Amino acid sequence: MNAIQVKEGIYWVGALDWHLRNFHGYTTNRGATYNAYLIIDEKVALIDAVKAPFSKELLERISSVIDPSKIDYIISNHVEMDHSGALPAMAKACPNATIVTSAPSGVKGLTAHYGQLNYMPVKSGSTLSLGKRTLSFVATPMLHWPDNMITWCPEEKLLFSNDAFGQHYCTNTRFDDDSDFCETMQEAKKYYANIIMCYGKQAAGAWKTVKELAPEMIAPSHGVIWRSHVDDILDGYEKWSTHEPETGALVVFDSMWHSTETMAQTIAEAFTGQGVPVKLYDLKQSHLSDIIVNLLDCKYVAVGSPTLNNNMLPTVAAFLCYMKGLSPKNRRAFSFGSYGWGGQANAQIDEELKKCGFELCLDTLKIQYIPSEEQLKEIDEKIKSLD
Ligand code: FEO
Repeated sequence: MNAIQVKEGIYWVGALDWHLRNFHGYTTNRGATYNAYLIIDEKVALIDAVKAPFSKELLERISSVIDPSKIDYIISNHVEMDHSGALPAMAKACPNATIVTSAPSGVKGLTAHYGQLNYMPVKSGSTLSLGKRTLSFVATPMLHWPDNMITWCPEEKLLFSNDAFGQHYCTNTRFDDDSDFCETMQEAKKYYANIIMCYGKQAAGAWKTVKELAPEMIAPSHGVIWRSHVDDILDGYEKWSTHEPETGALVVFDSMWHSTETMAQTIAEAFTGQGVPVKLYDLKQSHLSDIIVNLLDCKYVAVGSPTLNNNMLPTVAAFLCYMKGLSPKNRRAFSFGSYGWGGQANAQIDEELKKCGFELCLDTLKIQYIPSEEQLKEIDEKIKSLD
């Protein structure tokens, strides 16, 4: 396994996880990569490591260009184990290396995971000279852990952004311009929705910092490196972090005997009739992490469930719990569902939508047993009444 040159003297030495399909609950249909970068200067620095089972791959790629024992610094931009898992192996292979991490959260987090290693805490604004190149550290706390930082190399105009601007996307290509652009952007968007959206305020702050740095290349810790589409990914983060989708309707439901499903289809058709782009999802068929990415484009959120045992269906409760945790803002929402006798699900959904901070733009749409043509027409008219 070989290193891949990113720029003269700078190499990608990460790991390819082709077969990963679930990253702690996030479906990774195109696998994942754990990116690590090697800078060979008067001093040698490794930017981030990889997940523990890929330690051998990391060492092999490094060894294809330099003896790992020559590494002077390992920059740990983030404690999470997909980037730090190989640190114990690296500490053995690179006995002279100092592990550079944020103060105090990086040191605290790494010590809790791996015990006492040779740590060097750095604060935001600290710099480290490698010889011809400098590394400058910028704290990005809660993007998406307290310890996060990004590393900037001004001489190369190269930003090592860790999770920010990443994609769970495994390819044999390392750059945005030799990868499928639509797939790359879709995976970047899914990554933002599932990992970053909860920290939109921090993402907006980081976006501003990165814009001012004006990088020519952004090397994230997952997926491909941005070099030809830096503006596209920065534009994406600007749009997504504002929490202000202009249009779009996300209709999400589960159904037992197709009545709630019929209502969902009627709602989707009504939005379509109004020229609103619609995404319709049956929670039995799709994964939460695939559904939630559509929220970035949707102003309206409609959530439907029948009532089962005095409750909404567990699939719907899980969706609402997941959505609430990601803290989307500025959405208009309503609930719908059919019922037999109790009909408690609708009010429960409304409560959860309110807890999301959404504006309830319609009274709940509630139908007993089987929706009639007349009732479906009423639903259509109510959707048309939305401004
Ligand atoms: Fe890719 Fe937060 O770890």
